[in-house]
Amino acid sequence: PHPDPAAALPGVPVVDITATGPGRTPIQQVMELMRAHGPVLVRRLHGRDVMFVADADLVADLADEDRFAKHIGPALENVREFAADGLFTAYNDEPNWAKAHDILMPAFALGSMRTYHPVMLEVARRLIGSWDRAARSGEAVNVPDDMTRMTLDTIGLAGFDYDFGSFERAEPHPFVESMVRCLEWSMTRLARTPGEDHSALDAAFRADADYLAQVVDDVIASRAGTDQSGAEDLLGLMLSAPHPADGTTLDTANIRNQVITFLIAGHETTSGAMSFALYYLAKNPAVLRLVQREADALWGDDADPEPTYDEIGRLTYTRQVLNEALRLWPTAAAFSRRAREDTLLGGRIPMRAGQAVTVMAPMLHRQPVWGDNPERFDPERFTAEAEAARPVHAFKPFGTGERACIGRQFALHEATMLLAMLVHRYRLHDHADYQLHVKETLTLKPEGFTLTLTPRTAAD
Ligand code: HEM
Repeated sequence: PHPDPAAALPGVPVVDITATGPGRTPIQQVMELMRAHGPVLVRRLHGRDVMFVADADLVADLADEDRFAKHIGPALENVREFAADGLFTAYNDEPNWAKAHDILMPAFALGSMRTYHPVMLEVARRLIGSWDRAARSGEAVNVPDDMTRMTLDTIGLAGFDYDFGSFERAEPHPFVESMVRCLEWSMTRLARTPGEDHSALDAAFRADADYLAQVVDDVIASRAGTDQSGAEDLLGLMLSAPHPADGTTLDTANIRNQVITFLIAGHETTSGAMSFALYYLAKNPAVLRLVQREADALWGDDADPEPTYDEIGRLTYTRQVLNEALRLWPTAAAFSRRAREDTLLGGRIPMRAGQAVTVMAPMLHRQPVWGDNPERFDPERFTAEAEAARPVHAFKPFGTGERACIGRQFALHEATMLLAMLVHRYRLHDHADYQLHVKETLTLKPEGFTLTLTPRTAAD
């Protein structure tokens, strides 16, 4: 039986979308509903209720780990069909969550980024090689496709010493296409009308999930049997590191689930974040000039600089630009929390133990704490002073608490370095006067965003 939270939630509007369904852009639909009905609402679909919140005080309350915890909602239940008890989709009390978390945490500490830096740089150079060819021929580049090539190759090499070779392919690696279809299946399965026949869709999903598992087996097989004792990448840790508490390693089935999880979580959202950042730079020449000035201060007119690990930490304005892009379009837009015990959310909304709500980050990031023009792209919102003046939980692109994103530093290092290298090297031309169209496949991307490029000269 579906509990009916609305019945117990005085003052929370219930919006029934059964007549239209959520369509192919359910996140943007909830954004519209919130613009009409406010930052707390219950969305009803075929009698199933989901409460969505974006109110900054309520999200701050949901961050209280004593009273709330991560919830594996219906979308993540679908993702569990192919990622099972991998870190992202594990239940809080599944023993493999804490075990894998403890074993893998050191690989994501800030200091570990030093280890990944050379690989990130190598893949950034692959992208630049490809963009140089496009600049010479005058051809447009497809930004989200190329960002995906870059992030997939990076997580493959940095995490698993496995080369997807995405820049040698005219089309995205088939792993990406299967993964996108699996994510779409996870999303659209939520919108199904009861009683319809979906067996063809489900069979296609099974085939894609099997293919993902096969790629993962290749990744693991290319390493199995070799000595892992010195290997400190993710796969090396998974194959050989003993758990600090009980000395056991991860089992084979769980390693597969972790590899698939990291291949997906490790590239899809970062790729979207860089694509939105480039979109806003292309549309905001004054901001672009400031990012260029920051990169130029480090690398002058050296056409082929060798960015060091420490230099990336000094790219503070570039980092502000990324944060601002993640504010407007947090690419993993929603996460869910459940009440550990009966409680009052924000002191006013009764929730029973186990009851869940979904945080809608793109609308949290447009609440009044962000000022009176939240749609405006303005990296000044992320100066140290501005951040200190704002409630800490007003910005949540990486989730919250102990189940927050483990790969945050990885994503930020990779993305900051690449953005700075790109603006240092190219002039970006919005040749098609691109109009933003946000595609949803559980994550968000600016679909069909292309740029043309010319090399910068000393005069630019
Ligand atoms: C968890 C966002 C990059 C691996 C999460 C969550 C969010 C998120 C919102 C929490 C989900 C929830 O509460 O249900 C992002 C964004 C990224 C990014 C916006 C890029 C801009 C990465 C990267 C990796 C990664 C690069 C790996 C290299 C993970 C994993 C989890 C996670 C494994 C689950 C952690 C756990 O529950 O223990 N991410 N992520 N993410 N992310 Fe990321």
